[in-house]
Amino acid sequence: MDKIITVKDKNDYDKLNEAAKALARGQLVAFPTETVYGLGANALDEQAVKSIFKAKGRPQDNPLIVHVAKKEDIEDLVKEITSDAKKIIDALMPGAITIILKKSNIIPDAVTAGGETVAIRMPSSPVARELIMRAGVPVAAPSANRSGKPSPTKAAHVKEDLEDEVFCIIDGGDCAYGLESTVLDLTCKVPTILRPGGVTYEELTGILDKVVGSSGEYDDKKAPKSPGMKYRHYAPSAQMSVFLGEDCDEEINKEILKNTNKKIFVLLAEEKSFENAETIVLGKTAMEYSQNLFDALRNADNMGADIILAHVPFSSGGIATALLNRIYKSCGGNVKICR
Ligand code: TXA
Ligand code: MG
Repeated sequence: MDKIITVKDKNDYDKLNEAAKALARGQLVAFPTETVYGLGANALDEQAVKSIFKAKGRPQDNPLIVHVAKKEDIEDLVKEITSDAKKIIDALMPGAITIILKKSNIIPDAVTAGGETVAIRMPSSPVARELIMRAGVPVAAPSANRSGKPSPTKAAHVKEDLEDEVFCIIDGGDCAYGLESTVLDLTCKVPTILRPGGVTYEELTGILDKVVGSSGEYDDKKAPKSPGMKYRHYAPSAQMSVFLGEDCDEEINKEILKNTNKKIFVLLAEEKSFENAETIVLGKTAMEYSQNLFDALRNADNMGADIILAHVPFSSGGIATALLNRIYKSCGGNVKICR
């Protein structure tokens, strides 16, 4: 059997059967979602869940998201579906949102890192839902990258990081968002965004009375509430700096001149050339830029980049809030504001 199984649409769904069986019996399967690729295991099988941490090199104290195929499947996983949870499930699921609720007894400790809460997500990717449905079990899945590396947005990224660790990789093409889901904690007094993502703050405030948001402003000094957010993350091997503002050419050129003996890649929203540096164009909108960000970071690394200079012309708000959050983490807080 091939390690990589291409599933485009309904006609290919029977190709998911072997992977679904493997999941149910405790093996690891990587699969596409609309956000990023996930590294899945049977969420009710503690040994299977533990093997996720081993495969990724993930710290044990970082809990996993449990993925379901149908709204009805959430009930058994949590103590109670609160009224806010019901609103979010009705309005935004399936979609790029993860909600934190008090866990039920069937969730093994390995999933929640011993905590009393569990993260629940129903992906909008039909391939993801079909796989989970055929497996017949909820699927615990972090992003399918080695811990610390940029999240995978193509099957090839998963292959690069985890080929030897998985039963198979389902290739469903490029992820639509390219950034992870929004993590919303519904166990606090006021619903709190722990990680900005595909579903925006603006969408959430249209549904819930009050939401404590992450503004997307540069505020990395705040203590992380979601365990996963405290680690250096989404990071390329190259040294990375981010340039915020509309026109950063002067600052970027200065940085290039300081490093003439280094291989430099400049990430841009629009085509432009710089002397003594290669460029990668990610796209004019925050959505396009987000879709291509993790792929660009991996490509720069694979082409031998010593230094990555990313020009980000977007201000926070909408999907740009999540983009800024990821890009700050990618560069370890090495942010320069132009003018
Ligand atoms: O889009 C996504 O969410 C992707 C796809 C595969 O679904 N998954 C993903 O998983 O990004 P991961 O493990 O890379 O990130 C999950 C985040 C981490 O920051 C983790 O700490 C947080 O969710 N998390 C999980 N369970 C939690 C809990 N019970 N309480 C607070 N944070 C939690
Ligand atoms: Mg991750």
